[in-house]
Amino acid sequence: AAVRSLDFVAGAVSLQTLPAHDLKEAVFIGRSNVGKSSLVNMLANRKSAAFVSKKPGKTQQFNYFAVNDFSLPNNRRRQSSGGKKKKNASSSPSWDPPGSFYLVDVPGLGYAEVPKAARREWADLLEAYLATRDQAALAFHLVDSRCGPMPVDRDIFAMVKRSLARREGPPLRYVLVLTKADKREAKKNAVPDAHDALRADLAEHLGDDLARDIPILVTSATTRRGRDAMWRHLKHAALP
Ligand code: GTP
Ligand code: MG
Repeated sequence: AAVRSLDFVAGAVSLQTLPAHDLKEAVFIGRSNVGKSSLVNMLANRKSAAFVSKKPGKTQQFNYFAVNDFSLPNNRRRQSSGGKKKKNASSSPSWDPPGSFYLVDVPGLGYAEVPKAARREWADLLEAYLATRDQAALAFHLVDSRCGPMPVDRDIFAMVKRSLARREGPPLRYVLVLTKADKREAKKNAVPDAHDALRADLAEHLGDDLARDIPILVTSATTRRGRDAMWRHLKHAALP
């Protein structure tokens, strides 16, 4: 997948301040520290477009990253688009014209050291976003492959279920993503165990019918495992 440009366009803290545009959005949700910002960077071939930290609670707003949006006024690749393709823009095969959409990195949920009021605000905003944002086309829900679903993930299942039931806009695709599969603790049986636990939890919380069609991907931001699978979902759901 060709990422010719990645532009940070907005950090929003309310539905009213989300950027206005007609492109589709893929959002990364999950427990604080699960690896959301790292996967945004991995997918976009960037080292640190989205800020990553060992300490949970790093991302504090809805951070919007435009992928290949050449209509942005400050997108310099637009000016050179008549010339040769930028060397090394991406090692992956490209298509022409490259698709444009947004990656949305959001605050993690469930981190006890974030004040309760802020946690509540982020959760409410995320639920309203999933239910009402027409541009939202794909939600990646990240779960740590070393420990499988945790109590906060069950809260997220419930939130997703409520939002999808309320949603009147275009369909929102929901995909589960196991993260950090490169970690030593993930190596043994943790990944298949987490996979099985997720399947069971999905069926319990979302019902067999909905749960059956939800993909579960295994990824690592470090080794780039699962990148192609995530991109397939991005192209399918978020490109026109
Ligand atoms: P919040 O913004 O606080 O919600 O966290 P986040 O979900 O965005 O997590 P972030 O990407 O900041 O990563 C948290 C920590 O996990 C950082 O120290 C990352 O370097 C590390 N990490 C993320 N993904 C991976 C991975 O695939 N493998 C390994 N080994 N470490 C990872
Ligand atoms: Mg983050």
